[in-house]
Amino acid sequence: MKAIVIDSEQQLLWQDQPEPSPGPGQVAIRVRATAVNRADLMQRAGLYPPPPGASDILGLECAGEISALGSGVSQWRVGDRVCALLAGGGYGETVVSHQDHVLPVPEGLDFFEAAALPEVFATAWLNLYMLGGLQPGQKVLLHAGASGVGTAAIQLCKGLDNPVFVTVGTEEKLEFCRQLGASAGHLRTSGDFEPVVKEWAGKGGVAAILDPVGGNYLEQNVKCLGTDGSLIIIGLMGGRSGPLDLGRLLVKRISVVGSTLRSRSDASKADVVRQLREQVWPGFAEGRFRPVIHSRFPIREAGAALALVADNKTTGKVILELE
Ligand SMILES: NC(=O)c1ccc[n+]([C@@H]2O[C@H](COP(=O)([O-])OP(=O)(O)OC[C@H]3O[C@@H](n4cnc5c(N)ncnc54)[C@H](OP(=O)(O)O)[C@@H]3O)[C@@H](O)[C@H]2O)c1
Repeated sequence: MKAIVIDSEQQLLWQDQPEPSPGPGQVAIRVRATAVNRADLMQRAGLYPPPPGASDILGLECAGEISALGSGVSQWRVGDRVCALLAGGGYGETVVSHQDHVLPVPEGLDFFEAAALPEVFATAWLNLYMLGGLQPGQKVLLHAGASGVGTAAIQLCKGLDNPVFVTVGTEEKLEFCRQLGASAGHLRTSGDFEPVVKEWAGKGGVAAILDPVGGNYLEQNVKCLGTDGSLIIIGLMGGRSGPLDLGRLLVKRISVVGSTLRSRSDASKADVVRQLREQVWPGFAEGRFRPVIHSRFPIREAGAALALVADNKTTGKVILELE
């Protein structure tokens, strides 16, 4: 098969690679589309190695048809139209996935749309609703609101009755987030978000923060949280350390949670995928949720696609099409 390979100068080349075959409990998927994630930039730079046992080919999600079944797989058939959450390998013509990390392509969507869903909806669902335990009506602060994860999180929050405040980099992104369902927002280039969020949230503060920024937002984040609030850190785009006032943590009984999806156990990811299928997937057929796609590139142009993401030019997902 062909797959994207990273050369010594971090260029992405479409080259021959050994075709993987499914082991027990796994399925092989003939990939029709995959999508770029911020993590791909770090993996390309050698800063985010795949977890043990995972493919070292880029690609954390895909959509396509099941092409082979490993032993013990009963819930899927060859030819099924699926999308999958992957620990790697999506940038190749064939990928293997644990059978419980696979989801049907939602009714009415094509492969390009379905490839935009698994990683970002799983991340938003896991962190806000499974770890964050959000209840209807509770307010959320969401940084990088127009990112892939952000655009999924806004839709979930709107659908589950959680008012959401976003921070973003441009007016266009802010307007997009509002249209998608954000209640309010702030341009990160226009000064501190803390006073604006506090005014929006009122005395009770926000119940949860989904934060891919980390270090340089830590102090303001803690100030925005209300009693029993959760700061869920999913990325370090703003650095890995920052000042933390433990007094505020104590008095407000704040939880600070660090979270990565990719390194979780197979069983834990299967649980996330099962909940997505039951609680989120029907929302695509009903029109409550939708894929947010910025642009599509042929897989051979993966380098250009990653450059667009690295430049913070995207709103939602960038899709890579396989022939
Ligand atoms: N822990 C996990 O399991 C997990 C899973 C998936 C993703 N993530 C993380 O979640 C984040 C979003 O991922 P994605 O693939 O959805 O990203 P994406 O679509 O590439 O969007 C990232 C956006 O973040 C904003 N940004 C960039 N640098 C920033 C900075 N220093 N401070 C504040 N904002 C900044 C930019 O938007 P603006 O122009 O609006 O500023 C950029 O477009 C990434 O950090 C990623 O690593 C974590």
